[in-house]
Amino acid sequence: MSLTVLGIETSCDETAAAVVRRADDGRVEVLSSVIASQVAEHAPFGGVVPEIAARAHVEVIEGIVGRAMAAAGVDYGDLDGVAATAGPGLVGGVMVGLSFGKAVALARDLPLVAVNHLEGHAVSARLAADIPYPFLLLLVSGGHCQLLAVAGVGACRRLGSTIDDAAGEAFDKIAKSLGLPYPGGPALETLAEGGDPERFPLPRSLLGREGCDFSFSGLKTAAARLAAGLTSEADKRDLAAAVQEAIARQLCDRTDRALLAYAHAHEGRHLRFVVAGGVAANRTVRARLEATAAARGFSFAAPPLAYCTDNAAMIALAGVERLALGLVDGLDAVARPRWPLDEAAALANPIHTPGRKGAKA
Ligand code: KG4
Ligand code: ZN
Repeated sequence: MSLTVLGIETSCDETAAAVVRRADDGRVEVLSSVIASQVAEHAPFGGVVPEIAARAHVEVIEGIVGRAMAAAGVDYGDLDGVAATAGPGLVGGVMVGLSFGKAVALARDLPLVAVNHLEGHAVSARLAADIPYPFLLLLVSGGHCQLLAVAGVGACRRLGSTIDDAAGEAFDKIAKSLGLPYPGGPALETLAEGGDPERFPLPRSLLGREGCDFSFSGLKTAAARLAAGLTSEADKRDLAAAVQEAIARQLCDRTDRALLAYAHAHEGRHLRFVVAGGVAANRTVRARLEATAAARGFSFAAPPLAYCTDNAAMIALAGVERLALGLVDGLDAVARPRWPLDEAAALANPIHTPGRKGAKA
């Protein structure tokens, strides 16, 4: 059955709407994907200010959804459902998009799908290529860093996650201490070009240790201290290269352990590894992960750059896949600031308590 879904994403600093259609033969087409970035509003503060984000979403949401519908060339009557991010994220912003989605669903008598933002990232590589389930996923963004065995939409098992900061957060904070603008990841990548990654020794947190968890807070503190004493562009370039190298090295070390565990559990099957999330846009990280996966006999996939960072096409696709399985939500769906994809794992492992004191990602 062909399904056409409007997706809405407002969990951080992008207001996004998209229309995605999955044809009878399973082919996925992004009919439109519109993103309004709030970077300029947050730039003076060096990071995302939740109240500013929520207000900015309110101001533009109607126009962005209208633009996505017009660009897709569809009418509300052509839709089979509405999918909106219901968390995790900055709850004021999540409420804006989710409420708007509910209003459309109610007014047009359409089913609502309340999508977990992480599930959006998990399906994002499927927007542009035919990547069948199951696969091992590294989800690495500004708010999250985790390894998941993905058996299908709504069926993720977590193998590891960060015990403190997310990798993108480390990129952003270290970039800030190097005097780079927000968001820091892309700026740091540019600065690192031509730098010597071996000049500054940085902590090698968790390398070679048991398990698949991540930790970036030691690296963040050490790099910020070093950055404070640097003045020349050449020094900064070398530190940026060292930071990028340290992050890539840890991502590969932890991923390698997950690849081994996953291969063991999926013996005799085609082994696929997917990396998604904003940090997957980093060319060094991507290339190093691809080599790590290949060395263990895994095929490698990553979404096109436009679908690595936050967008609504991935939310719409998660909506399509859930709708096809009859997984719809009521208009009483709540906005959730924290919402682990694998709730059982999050509850079972006390390092990752889901409450206010739990790890951020
Ligand atoms: O997926 P995303 O847009 O938002 C979250 O769900 O968090 O990821 C944004 C994060 C930011 O931390 C940004 O600095 C990082 O992805 N990022 C990068 C690059 N592009 C975006 N980090 C390193 N290198 C990049 N090229
Ligand atoms: Zn995201």
